[in-house]
Amino acid sequence: MKYQAIITMPEIEVEIDDVVVSIAKGSGREIFYVHSSGSDAEQWKYQLETVGGYAIDLPNHGKSDKAEINSVDDYAYYVSEAIKQICGKAVIAGHSLGGAVAQKVYLNYPETCMGLVLVGTGARLRVLPEILENLKTKPEKAVELILDMAFYRKENEYRKIREKYLRNSDVLYLDLSVCDKFDLLNEYRESRIKIDVPVLLVFGREDRLTPLKYGEFFRNHIPSSHLVVIDEASHMVMLEKPEEFNSALDSFLGKILSD
Ligand code: COA
Repeated sequence: MKYQAIITMPEIEVEIDDVVVSIAKGSGREIFYVHSSGSDAEQWKYQLETVGGYAIDLPNHGKSDKAEINSVDDYAYYVSEAIKQICGKAVIAGHSLGGAVAQKVYLNYPETCMGLVLVGTGARLRVLPEILENLKTKPEKAVELILDMAFYRKENEYRKIREKYLRNSDVLYLDLSVCDKFDLLNEYRESRIKIDVPVLLVFGREDRLTPLKYGEFFRNHIPSSHLVVIDEASHMVMLEKPEEFNSALDSFLGKILSD
C-alpha cells in the first residue's frame, strides 16, 4: 500500500470543563492516539487511515481550545476524560510527550486504559538545554536542531512539521518544558510502577531525541512489553515508516481488541 494523500478525517468535539477538545476519527476502533510536542492529531494520519481509531488534539494544539497546562498530568486528565466520553476505555498510543501522557493516563486513570503503545518516548524525557534556550530567542535554530535529530531523511513530512513547529513555537516550548520535568525513571527502577496491561514499544533505530536505549529500558522494566525497532527511521517513525509501523500496531491490537 502506498501512503501519500492526506484524507480529511471526520472530527468529533468533546467538552471537558468548558474546554472544547477536537478529536479526529478514523474508525470506531478503541485506540486513542496522543501526539508529541508542538504537533496535533494530523501526526497520526497514516494510522487513522489504515488502522483506525481516534486522535486527539491536546488542549492548546490543532483545533482544540486553550487550557492551562503545567505538567504531563494535566494533559493526562484531558485524555482520560476524552476517552471516557468517547469509548469508556481504549488502547492508548502516545508519541514522545504523548507517550509520557499515555503512561500517566495508565497510572492516574487505569480504568480507561486497555493497553499502551509507547512510541519514541521514555520514562524520563530530559530536553537539551540548547533547544529550550533557543526556542525562546531563536526559534528557527531550535527547530532545525530538533528536526535534525527527529528525522532519518529530510523528506516531505519534514517540511510540514518544520512549518508547524515554527508557527507554534510558544506551544512547543511549553510542551518541551513539561517533558523536561517528566521523570518516572526511579519509580520504574525501584519497581514502584507495575504495568499490567499489554504494552507495545515502537522505536526508530536512528532516533536521537529518544534513543533506542529508552525503549530497552521499558522492555527491561515492563514484563508485558514487546519492543519493535524500525530501521531507517528516527523519532517520527509513524510518519517515516507507516507500513512497518501499522503492521506492528495492527498485530498488537489484534491480540487485545475483539473487532
Ligand atoms: N530511559 C532510560 N534511561 C534514561 C532515560 C530514559 N528515558 N533518560 C535518561 N536515562 C539515562 C541516560 O541514558 C543516562 O544513563 P547513563 O548514565 O548510563 O548514560 C542517565 O539516565 C542520565 O540521563 P540523561 O538524560 O543523559 O541526563 P543528563 O542530564 O546527563 O542529559 C540531556 C540530559 C538532555 C543531554 C539528555 O537527556 C539528552 O541528550 N536527551 C535527548 C535530546 C532531547 O532533548 N530529547 C527531547 C526528548 S522530548
